[in-house]
Amino acid sequence: MKRMKSPTIFLFFFFFLISTCALLLEASNNGGGGSKEVPDIKRSDFPLGFLFGAATSAYQIEGAYLDDSKSLSNWDVFCHSVVGCGRNGSNGDIADDHYHRFLKDIEIMHSIGLKAYRFSISWARVLPRGRSGEVNPAGVRFYNMIIDNLILKGIEPFVTIFHGDFPQELEDKYGSWLNAEMTEEFAHLAEICFKSFGDRVKYWATINEPNIFTDLSYQRGVFPPSRCSEPFGNCIHGNSDVEPLIVMHNLLLAHGKAAKLYHENFQPKQGGSIGLVMHCFMYEPLTDSELDRKAAKRALAFNIGWSLDPVIFGEYPEEMREYLGTKLPSFSIEEKNFLKNSTDFIGINHYTTIYTKDCTNSGCSPTANRAIKGFLEMVEERDGVPIGEPTKVKGFSVVPRGMGEIVNYIKIRYNNTPMFITENGYSTPDVDAKGIKELVNDVKRVKFHTAYLASLAESIIGGADVRGYFIWSLMDNFEWLQGYDVKFGLYYIDRRTLTRLPKLSAKWYENFLKNKSDVMKL
Ligand code: NOJ
Repeated sequence: MKRMKSPTIFLFFFFFLISTCALLLEASNNGGGGSKEVPDIKRSDFPLGFLFGAATSAYQIEGAYLDDSKSLSNWDVFCHSVVGCGRNGSNGDIADDHYHRFLKDIEIMHSIGLKAYRFSISWARVLPRGRSGEVNPAGVRFYNMIIDNLILKGIEPFVTIFHGDFPQELEDKYGSWLNAEMTEEFAHLAEICFKSFGDRVKYWATINEPNIFTDLSYQRGVFPPSRCSEPFGNCIHGNSDVEPLIVMHNLLLAHGKAAKLYHENFQPKQGGSIGLVMHCFMYEPLTDSELDRKAAKRALAFNIGWSLDPVIFGEYPEEMREYLGTKLPSFSIEEKNFLKNSTDFIGINHYTTIYTKDCTNSGCSPTANRAIKGFLEMVEERDGVPIGEPTKVKGFSVVPRGMGEIVNYIKIRYNNTPMFITENGYSTPDVDAKGIKELVNDVKRVKFHTAYLASLAESIIGGADVRGYFIWSLMDNFEWLQGYDVKFGLYYIDRRTLTRLPKLSAKWYENFLKNKSDVMKL
């Protein structure tokens, strides 16, 4: 190679320095609140076999709530009886009518170039009466058709066994998750799934977001079965300081029993993997004080360690035991043994980062001033400056740096157990949702995903064993209490005709996955 003369070398380094500084400046802008620029992120920045996909859940998209011998689920009953189950009186009776349109939806996934699709099983469709009744052949047939058609299109099925909906009969019979019976019910459902679908499904998530499920259903009581107590909410029944602990205990044991079954009886032949999916905010201290820094650590333990420590180490986190004492249930030796290392991967549902303020030393809101909350408060602003640009869902601000931070935290705490980003998504705020034209031209969603992916790529370069990324969601759907007003989809759904319309983000994802030009730069 020809040698460069010294002034040329000097000039070369000068320009290199200037361009590196410019790049760093741009990256730090993106890492802050809003994502102003689109980072240059490519498919090739991720490992070859990395699974890029999209996610949904049964109640949020399927509809067909009474078709083919399905029984009523807790959400069907809740939505039919509680005024305002979903905003504007909406419910999941029809949802996106995926039950009748799944072939079209798989076609959409294929056109985007998805390599994986995460969906959940409607318990009431497969086992309408739980383990006291028969398997419903129509339910099994439905999921078989989905799985077969996905595989035909080269899309890996990634199945969540429980995503919030279960037969109402189990609630009426013995109080569902407050009762240890439910762990057996769940293990039975899981076994039916492994037997029926496990020859083709290689990724199983036992339970979606146990931490959010306990919070919304048994602490704030806004989800069925509407159980809570003051100051968390005003329910007829419940105890917000105690029941979430019992329910989580049962959820973890249910996970452990299903995982044991899979590891012992199915994995050796079927060769897949099984994990738990967690709702994972990242927590940053509000101030640099020792107390706020400790509060941020506690927030991670109380929200993430609460479920992940038991399924990896077989114990609840120290921090929780310290604050909750004997209120926190204990695992028997046998339970510890089957819980320990019961998760082959960690599913991370990550949307945002929030500041954490200590409440042990100063007064906070009545709900934050509780042992079960770890005596800490979540705050969205520091000195009047929001942590990130708001989205439609309160508290889900855009903070791309948090993606890399949460992955690195989980990597270190859990010895780099394989991870999947099982959900990451952006809900269009009202100001940008004036009409279909604006909703479909979702530039901010594209910026959101590129910025979060850039942060994720950095953590992978740093050694984090992340194996996939799923956008929430394939299409706009029933966002629980917020009904159809909150839109996370790559596809827009016309609520009158249920026609699916691709948004700019669908085109962006396709171009990204197929290594075509970035839609934002066209
Ligand atoms: C997490 C849940 O798994 C999903 O059901 C929900 O719709 C999204 N986050 C968005 O809030």
